[in-house]
Amino acid sequence: METVAITLDGVPVSGRQGMTILELAQEVGVRIPTLCHDPSLKPAGACRLCLVEDEASKRLVASCVTPIASGMRIQTRSQAVLEARRVILRLMLANHPESCLVCDKGNRCQLRKLASEAGIGLVDYDRMDSFVGTQEANPFVKRDLSKCVLCGKCIRADQELVVVGALDYFQRGFQARPATFLDRPLEGSECTFCGTCVALCPTGALSESTGLHLGTVGQRTATTCSYCGCGCSLWVHVSEDRLVYVSPRAENSVNKATLCVRGHYGSDYLHHPDRLLHPQARRDGEMVTLSWQEALDEAAGRLLEIARRHGPLSVGFFGSTQCTNEENYLFQKLARIGVGTPNVDNGARLQAASSILAMREELGIAGATHPLDELEYARVILVIGAQPLESHPVASYAIKRAVKHRGAKLIQVSPVEDGLSRMASIWLRPWPGSEGRILLAILRAVVESKGSSMPGWMEELDPKALLEPTLVEAAAVEEAAGSLSSTRCCALVFGRGLSGGPGGKEAVRVLVRLAVALGCLGVGGGGLYPLDRAANTQGACDMGTLAEFLPGYRPAGDPRARQEMARVWGKEPPQGKGMTLPQMLEAASRGELRALFVMGENPAQLLPGKAREALRGLEFLLVQDIFPSATTELAHLVLPAAGFLEKDGTYTSLERRIQRIRAACSPPGGARPDCWILSALLKRTAQLPEYETPADVMKEISQAVPQMRGVRYTRLENEPIFWPCVDSTASGERILLRGETPESHGGLEPWRLLGSEEADPEFPFLAVEADSLHGVGSGARSGRARRLRAFSPQTQVWINPSEMARLELGQKTQVRLLSRWGELRATALARPEIPTGILWVIPGAPGLGIAGLVPWSWDPGSGVVQTRMSRVRLDKGL
Ligand code: SF4
Ligand code: SF4
Ligand code: SF4
Ligand code: FES
Repeated sequence: METVAITLDGVPVSGRQGMTILELAQEVGVRIPTLCHDPSLKPAGACRLCLVEDEASKRLVASCVTPIASGMRIQTRSQAVLEARRVILRLMLANHPESCLVCDKGNRCQLRKLASEAGIGLVDYDRMDSFVGTQEANPFVKRDLSKCVLCGKCIRADQELVVVGALDYFQRGFQARPATFLDRPLEGSECTFCGTCVALCPTGALSESTGLHLGTVGQRTATTCSYCGCGCSLWVHVSEDRLVYVSPRAENSVNKATLCVRGHYGSDYLHHPDRLLHPQARRDGEMVTLSWQEALDEAAGRLLEIARRHGPLSVGFFGSTQCTNEENYLFQKLARIGVGTPNVDNGARLQAASSILAMREELGIAGATHPLDELEYARVILVIGAQPLESHPVASYAIKRAVKHRGAKLIQVSPVEDGLSRMASIWLRPWPGSEGRILLAILRAVVESKGSSMPGWMEELDPKALLEPTLVEAAAVEEAAGSLSSTRCCALVFGRGLSGGPGGKEAVRVLVRLAVALGCLGVGGGGLYPLDRAANTQGACDMGTLAEFLPGYRPAGDPRARQEMARVWGKEPPQGKGMTLPQMLEAASRGELRALFVMGENPAQLLPGKAREALRGLEFLLVQDIFPSATTELAHLVLPAAGFLEKDGTYTSLERRIQRIRAACSPPGGARPDCWILSALLKRTAQLPEYETPADVMKEISQAVPQMRGVRYTRLENEPIFWPCVDSTASGERILLRGETPESHGGLEPWRLLGSEEADPEFPFLAVEADSLHGVGSGARSGRARRLRAFSPQTQVWINPSEMARLELGQKTQVRLLSRWGELRATALARPEIPTGILWVIPGAPGLGIAGLVPWSWDPGSGVVQTRMSRVRLDKGL
């Protein structure tokens, strides 16, 4: 790129063609004040505070929008520049309320900071007050537009970064301000309360609606969001051991300047009074408090005693997709080495295990093949069985930016209309659960169009019969296949609607084969993106907290793999593959599994009723968690753990990005970090020396997990590392399979996708559990996050308006959904985006989904328990 030389304040400097004066000044360390500029937004030149002087013409130009030109001589602090900036600031302040001392933005206000730097105190201009009322009816964002300086950052954040379109300029001249359509309140607009505009607003015009006085921020800590697999980077601002607010951490992050409503406003659950504070044991039906010494002795003693009496296979371990890599690693080590059982599994068995297994078997890779930012370079994006706007919002922003700003073609396969289907070029609307059939039809059409040879089973597929139960027209499928075949830059995005559905593992296998047929692996802007993962689903599986795999995806049944682990552990792990969670619960029902250790999961609520019965029958149920839950209610011993802001460790995002989480507050009462607890249990069961810090655990992980050989805490201090990272200098591979022509290897069993659902006249509706922006998992955390709960306190059921009318249901009527297996209470809402025959159930922040209505069954290919769909009828009233 061509170099451009200029002088800046008399000093010769050079930059690249196309750079602005501001960018070059920042690069060489010359500070120019700005208000409307942010590196994540397109320059707007709105505030004029970044004025500089062009010596040749004596003109003042806005440095954030003026490109450098060869020979330019720029003064950033001439008298004319300083005086112009002072005038601009004084004009802004003349129009600004004099309420700085009580403004929530406080010391974070950039306007106040710049005024103070310019030596401006009380303004001598005539005041030009603008009277706009404060709006704070919603629990997230407070708007006081009398403090607005019209920098336009909120509008650009909304339109450019999160692509929601809730805000635009309203009115002109002195009356102009950012507003929603028809100037409605935010809660009546498209706003998702992601808070991105609030984080970028330079004044108190937009601020967090805390409703509480939380004090002045003392320190900020860099960490990673605990809610979904995007793995957003956060700054958490803490005062006196309490979280005050959260802001996005842009540097080296997946999210840059954005977050979603959960990341921004959902972490205060850690201060909820429900927290478990002390170890507790059940004695004659009552819970009594124990000391840690007593609790750890009892936990280790009972697990070992049951393993001795009934054999190690009578003990099981169920780890967590929310706990860190270090914790999951120690958890499976405790199972395999401490107690000697191979029965270890984690929360992935509730949805993502199918995609982990399918991708591993097909490609040898158990994670996304590309980082999320590659979505922005895709020419065609297929989204199937996923609701990224709800489940993984930051991934959805990348998809929307690709469509809106780069002209990518979006193919959405989803039974309900949403913000993505409205942007889609092609929207296929399948009957829920038939997405796998659509994929088979697309794959067949792609293979046919490329003239490749078809395996026998594919040739035998009759496209018409294949598509009949899906309700999707063959022509639409052909069109989608044609678009996908038009480029190798196609990104295939899927979620739990595919992998957690019937035949989920086979459906993901078909998707992998589609990726191979399209040639989109190893190519920039291509790739497979599994949006079925929680904050550390990826890491929990990488660590071997799975029945099928030892750490690093070594097959649990492979003697050589066990010997490799023996070299790290000094002892060989038990032989053979262990039981998956549904197999453990079946064994518990038969009285063969006697003890289960559950860490950070709530199977009694998230699984169908039979699971609860199986848990109730255990001789010893040990639960380690941060809150009481339906599972702790059944436990014999409960250990109180620390939350994600109270401990150190690492998470691995769905992109294979390994990132630090860091302690910003102390755990309440006697709660302890899971690593501390597990290390103490390993000492008691396997007589191993205790690990001093999670960093020490990571040193061992780097020996046990080949993909993470080069990972160290010192290296993670400033940037994340993608796995595989095999030595201490590489920062990992962002795009896998580069330069390769991958082939898939698994044994596809497409008939697993061909079953179709049986109609049941007694239960005429299909209830489908939707992904929810506000409710995550069992709601243990989101349901105790004050603002998420206030905004979304109940489960809703969305129904097509024609069916609401037929059933004579008014808007917001309380209804009961009844199946053969249970019932659920919810608030009914008429929504035209829902097809007839379907009840779309949105768990609110308390996370009450439909698991209680679902029959006990699991995908035979992956062991993933079915929890998403059930035949129901609907009754009015409670
Ligand atoms: S509300 Fe804030 S971000 Fe938006 S234009 Fe006004 S000052 Fe700028
Ligand atoms: S909170 Fe998010 S969605 Fe709402 S207006 Fe701001 S940027 Fe747009
Ligand atoms: S997108 Fe996911 S990781 Fe990012 S802030 Fe939202 S919940 Fe957290
Ligand atoms: S920062 Fe350049 S015009 Fe506002």
